[in-house]
Amino acid sequence: MSFTIIEPAPSRLNRSEQAVPGSNARFLEKAAQGDADVVFLDLEDAVAPDEKETARRNIIQALNDLDWSGKTISVRINGLDTHYMYRDVVDILENCVDKLDLIMIPKAGTASDIYALDMLVSQIEAATKATKRIGFEMIIETALGMQNIHDIAAASKRNESLHFGVADYAASTKARTTNIGGPNADYGVLTDPAGDGGRDYHWGDMWHYAIARMVVAARANGLRPVDGPFGDIQDAEGYRAQALRAAVLGCEGKWAIHPSQVALANELFSPSEKEVAQAKAILEAMEQAKKEGKGAVTLNGRLIDIASIKQAQVLVDKAAQVAA
Ligand code: GLV
Ligand code: MG
Repeated sequence: MSFTIIEPAPSRLNRSEQAVPGSNARFLEKAAQGDADVVFLDLEDAVAPDEKETARRNIIQALNDLDWSGKTISVRINGLDTHYMYRDVVDILENCVDKLDLIMIPKAGTASDIYALDMLVSQIEAATKATKRIGFEMIIETALGMQNIHDIAAASKRNESLHFGVADYAASTKARTTNIGGPNADYGVLTDPAGDGGRDYHWGDMWHYAIARMVVAARANGLRPVDGPFGDIQDAEGYRAQALRAAVLGCEGKWAIHPSQVALANELFSPSEKEVAQAKAILEAMEQAKKEGKGAVTLNGRLIDIASIKQAQVLVDKAAQVAA
């Protein structure tokens, strides 16, 4: 291990992160009754400019009047380049500072963006004598944000999670696609004709670099990496594939931009019984190895060693967090 110890952000389940437009009071009520681990009440891109004020009022009312127990609650504020942002923060926090857990910062571009918000939130918390401390979740969804992702991740003690905002990221990098997440038929490789003569076309995952980079930046700073939206709400199979590849890379969860995606995310980001059984078998085999003074043994024909204990523990700990 390095002499530098990574301090983990407060532990929370973040398998599903449901997006709910603040402009729709009925959707807010339904989300409060739903099963998402985290709900973010949106003031940004799902809300038209003329509806920003109504959305703020709806969110304040929903935070104060509805029962959100069992969930982590976040509000996505508008970007720092808009004049909506300061009022989002001031109005929401002054009216319901103790009802909120997190603020979601869209299009985070530099560490200074986070610093500016930290200052504003700290002042409001002090003035309102808040009893709990607001955490930050940052959406990485611009080329600038991706360039500065490590500084952004380390910018504040309030930071809890990084999110991959695939739609804005595609726009910012001028990717040639109009899908929200998911694969693209033009991103693939044709196998070499020198092989067996037949040629196959393999689709690649055009978001792999971005998600893998986000996972590293998040984990190196003790934060949760969370995969963003998947736009085709009819395509549960597509959602499943995107979620699983994010989970395998280390993400804690994925956005649900429709209520039907919440159950999928909760299922796919919980380790399966088979995975947990395998992880427990590794822990038992290594416990036995320790008694025998061995650092490595074979289990079902595969070598396992002390690193395997840490890998297995990740799954067992996650299963325990889900069961709690
Ligand atoms: C989310 O905000 C996205 O742009 O994908
Ligand atoms: Mg976005």
